[in-house]
Amino acid sequence: MVSEHAAAQVLVASNRGPVTYALEDNGELTAKRGGGGLVSGLSAIGDSDGSDPAALWVCAALGEGDREAVRRGVGEPGVRMLDIDAGSHEGVHADAYNGIANSVLWFVHHMLYQTPLEPAFGPEFRAQWASYETYNRAFAEALAESAAQGAAVLVQDYHLALVPGMLRELRPDLRIGHFSHTPWAPVDYFRMLPDDVAEQLLRGILGADRAAFLTGRWADAFTECCVAVLGGTSGTRIGVHGLGADADFLRERSRRADVEERLVALREQVGSGRRVIVRVDRTELSKNIVRGLRAYRELLASWPEWRERVVHVAFAYPSRQDLAVYRDYTAEVQRVADEINSEYGVEGWTPVVLHVKDDFARSLAAYRLADVALVNPIRDGMNLVAKEVPVVSDEGCVLVLSREAGAYEELGEDALVVNPYDVTGTAAALHAALAMPVEERAERTKRLAAAATALPPAQWFLDQLRALEG
Ligand code: G6P
Repeated sequence: MVSEHAAAQVLVASNRGPVTYALEDNGELTAKRGGGGLVSGLSAIGDSDGSDPAALWVCAALGEGDREAVRRGVGEPGVRMLDIDAGSHEGVHADAYNGIANSVLWFVHHMLYQTPLEPAFGPEFRAQWASYETYNRAFAEALAESAAQGAAVLVQDYHLALVPGMLRELRPDLRIGHFSHTPWAPVDYFRMLPDDVAEQLLRGILGADRAAFLTGRWADAFTECCVAVLGGTSGTRIGVHGLGADADFLRERSRRADVEERLVALREQVGSGRRVIVRVDRTELSKNIVRGLRAYRELLASWPEWRERVVHVAFAYPSRQDLAVYRDYTAEVQRVADEINSEYGVEGWTPVVLHVKDDFARSLAAYRLADVALVNPIRDGMNLVAKEVPVVSDEGCVLVLSREAGAYEELGEDALVVNPYDVTGTAAALHAALAMPVEERAERTKRLAAAATALPPAQWFLDQLRALEG
């Protein structure tokens, strides 16, 4: 049944929303707006601040600040935040987000399980799975309540895989899309999940009219899982939309004063006349930061001519730190960086400059400065850093790119492509990148930038809406 308050014609649902609130010591709430593809995508159908009342973004309250905002009724137009843990549901969000989404589903789709990081499908998993269902149901109910007759609903990512199916039951009139921002696991790996859970996940997504992915490779893997586990995709259309970088935004943003300031500081840290290898990631296991550092160490060992002539600027921004496995990985990154610095560093030259505090302006400054960008994930849905660097780079930048990143499909021809597990191969690619003639590097960067911006976020979003209407 359509509620009388249902007004939104277009709805987006995701765990992380466009705004978060911090509870200050004086009891006030301050809002921080985020960026990313969805934010600029949604602004394409509303006002530039996303305030068109016909569009609604449903997201979860992620911390105490967000929860307090929900309690006080503080919010932004066009955003509905759900306090999943309210009432008798204390701990449900943590179970669903930390326990299932980021410990199990993230690990399955990125193929991160290896001894001693083994899957554990016992009683704790079952309790967390029940929370994952509750959390998905909270989203489905909120969407059902807020959507106008025949509205389009775009559900995002592995956190909300059950929502399309649940929403379909509540509101058969809606047009529902699901979009996966991650890779999809190959069928043999996916079937590591308990059978009933695997079935529920696939059926959940197949509740959508259309399930879409960042590349054909992930779409095919999903289809293969559906065929193997359920016998088919039961009429759900499968689509591919390769999200690109937002050229206009990046070019303008990367020339502002705060970026210029950080560029000066970085240049000073690096030292004059030195080459720069840049990487920027959230610190989590799929990004393969540790093997990247080992490859850099091997570069210094095998091509000693680069010692004192190159600096590796690595930004590794902490992510999902409630989970020990992510915290341990962050510590490992720090440890290996320190090791390289004590092994090779000399007075006046620090081989690795590692920053862990998230700073978007400094990331853009590093993109401008980079001679080489290292993007070597074990698996990655797309990887936007690979697409942003060529757009922002001042003097051209060689992209060393993992063949397991979604971006490889569009950028593979002009990047130096690596197998992310092959440390020696990655070291050789870094050497080739540093040695590449400047003209060739400039030509490649131009082509990379063109390919990287082919589908800007607003277009990416509108294409999905149109496809859902078709
Ligand atoms: C990936 C996921 C997104 C997620 C982001 C940041 O890109 O596909 O859904 O929002 O990581 O992770 P976090 O856990 O901080 O939201």
